[in-house]
Amino acid sequence: MKSMLRGKDWIETPDWSVEELETLLDVAGDLKRRFALGEPHRLLQDKTLFMMFFEQSTRTRNSTEAGMTQLGGHAHDLTPDKMQISHGETPKDTGMVLSRYGHGLAIRNCFYGIGNQYIREVAKYASVPVINLQCDVDHPCQSIADLMTVREKFGTNLRGMKFVVSWTYAPAYARPLSVPQGLIWLLPRFGIDVTLAYPKEFNLMPRTVEAAKKFAKEQGTKFEITHNMDDSFKNAVVCYPKSWGCHQYLADQGVPEEDKKRVGMEILNKYKSWVCTEKRMRMAKKNAVYMHPLPADRGAEVEDAVIDGPQSIVFDQAENRLHTVKAIQALTMGGRP
Ligand code: CP
Repeated sequence: MKSMLRGKDWIETPDWSVEELETLLDVAGDLKRRFALGEPHRLLQDKTLFMMFFEQSTRTRNSTEAGMTQLGGHAHDLTPDKMQISHGETPKDTGMVLSRYGHGLAIRNCFYGIGNQYIREVAKYASVPVINLQCDVDHPCQSIADLMTVREKFGTNLRGMKFVVSWTYAPAYARPLSVPQGLIWLLPRFGIDVTLAYPKEFNLMPRTVEAAKKFAKEQGTKFEITHNMDDSFKNAVVCYPKSWGCHQYLADQGVPEEDKKRVGMEILNKYKSWVCTEKRMRMAKKNAVYMHPLPADRGAEVEDAVIDGPQSIVFDQAENRLHTVKAIQALTMGGRP
């Protein structure tokens, strides 16, 4: 077990070895047990985490702040408008200054082509660990919680399990690519066969797809892409249908910034049938589960009967966001000196 993780950034899961991720999952399981028992686990007594949210959040904000409280520390809930970021203060200066005040920085910045670079720039100059609370490339706090949830339901030997990550129709807003990208490059490293399904204009960033293929090849698992939602559900054990925007396609096509919203909506509205229905869930294996990172666009991307039905494990997923982020905090901000 690789246990020396103090000071390590948590930005993309490929930055961590499988052995390090196993340590994280093991600690998350231990913290979950202690939380269930009401056993104190103040591993970060008097430590401070600065959370910077460039976008809205329910699960990530509250699990990360609650995590710090339960570990005996404190988290500051910051947004750019509360900081000099709004007047152009650089990621370098922000990272260097906050490092002098506390023990960790955590950032959500999902702006396409910007978020990951921003977090990396802060991390380059910060002298404390930096936690990615979701960017345009990865949502590692989500994917590791999802992996923990799948292992709780199906055990740790997941060889031969078909896990489908499917695009869905959701008109509310164009979500980042980071959840599907985070899943496709994490799950093959744990022996899972991944099928990625999307209408052709909803392609992901090439580097994440290439990494998924490489990991699948190294692990001897399958990584398949289809543009047919029904086909993707056949024989799936985990169905993970969720929406994302056509950000990569619009960039590939050179669509001007001012036209992206209109063109994106026109493309989106061609695919209203990409919904997770009870009928589609019946195409999967009998013991299949339904997963979604939330928030779900109920009635658009999924039928209530599915998300509220017996196959849904969405609230177990949401709960595991707490235990996994506490493991990330405890290992990177605390741990061995
Ligand atoms: N799944 C997730 O990251 O949810 P929030 O956007 O509410 O944090």
